[in-house]
Amino acid sequence: MKQNNQHDKIKVAIVGGTGYTGVELIRLLSAHPHAEVVLLTSRSQKGTPVADIFPSLRGVTDLVYSDFDDTANSNSLAELTKCDVVYFATPHGVAMTQAQGLVDAGVKVIDLGADFRLQSLEAFEKWYKQPHVCPDLLKQAVYGMPEVNREALKSARVVGNPGCYPTTAILGLKPIIDAQNTSEQAIVNSHIVIDAKSGVSGAGRQAKLDLNYAETTDNFKAYGVTGHRHLPEIEQGVNELLASSVQHHIRFLPHLVPMIRGMFTTIHLTLTDFGKTQDLQAIYDKAYDDEPFIDVLPHGQLPDTRSVRASNRLRIAVYQDNERGEATSLVVHDNLVKGASGQAVQSMNVMFGFDEPCGLELVPVVP
Ligand SMILES: NC(=O)c1ccc[n+]([C@@H]2O[C@H](COP(=O)([O-])OP(=O)(O)OC[C@H]3O[C@@H](n4cnc5c(N)ncnc54)[C@H](OP(=O)(O)O)[C@@H]3O)[C@@H](O)[C@H]2O)c1
Repeated sequence: MKQNNQHDKIKVAIVGGTGYTGVELIRLLSAHPHAEVVLLTSRSQKGTPVADIFPSLRGVTDLVYSDFDDTANSNSLAELTKCDVVYFATPHGVAMTQAQGLVDAGVKVIDLGADFRLQSLEAFEKWYKQPHVCPDLLKQAVYGMPEVNREALKSARVVGNPGCYPTTAILGLKPIIDAQNTSEQAIVNSHIVIDAKSGVSGAGRQAKLDLNYAETTDNFKAYGVTGHRHLPEIEQGVNELLASSVQHHIRFLPHLVPMIRGMFTTIHLTLTDFGKTQDLQAIYDKAYDDEPFIDVLPHGQLPDTRSVRASNRLRIAVYQDNERGEATSLVVHDNLVKGASGQAVQSMNVMFGFDEPCGLELVPVVP
């Protein structure tokens, strides 16, 4: 390990340090007892002190943004290989240009983008409209969701950090899928509707007309109704990762709501006759009893996004109506924390053998 002797901390680089997930990584890692951010990149802000762009980080870091060049064997790669782990807080298509060189140098890679999430090359190329440049490395990549892949993460060299919507969908369904696998009987019918709402920071810090204040404030709209890139990731998570005994047909509908942070996902389910004999509250309570970041609310309580703001917590309520044959899983998290940077730090903790909550024991901010 290329630890700093002085502090005995692992060295961390963040490619894409001016974006929302990048700046969130800096915030979280600044409180981490075993990790230190030593390199941050931004092509547009190279040479600028981080605190000049983000006054919230004055006194937290003295780092100056470095340039980033994605060509093979570039100076950027040489600098990144001095670190123990590199986070890519960048759009899809960036991490895969550097991942092989980093792994060859013994550096672990955590991509917050989509390059290492979908195991199917065909699905990646269909949804992201570009060829994958390191398909062999993709096969070794681990989907970075500790609640599902904790063992595999311990030896992972490349991690595909989950998308924000798939995190809510997969974790919102996991207890039911696991219980179906154990009982070998369907608890819910195969058709599942996932109705999800995201705050505007989910789209990143880029300037875009439809993300203008006047376009997003006092407005609520659906998007991606004919197909969203997170759908194949949710399908992969439910049908393959959780090894569901029932092939589920998923309808996924994302919406943009006038909040900065936060995601609320409502999963509509229809109970089978067997499902009506099951106690879903007990199934969810037991499933997440030992998970440090998942909170199952008591019967009758409902989650709200404010209750998880700026924390790595994902909060779930499950509702069951046997008379109508319906069940609903209601899930909230902060898209920038458990939906992105917090989950990535959680995976890093597992990869390096640190206590899983290190740097993530944050109480949500209210109001
Ligand atoms: N926002 C969320 O809630 C969220 C949740 C889960 C996952 N994600 C994923 O996380 C990734 C980052 O999201 P974000 O919201 O932080 O994005 P963002 O705010 O748009 O920031 C993107 C960052 O990447 C850098 N960048 C852009 N193109 C690059 C390139 N070709 N090479 C190197 N650096 C590049 C940008 O800086 P320069 O252009 O100055 O280099 C900037 O620092 C995306 O893949 C996103 O889908 C986001």
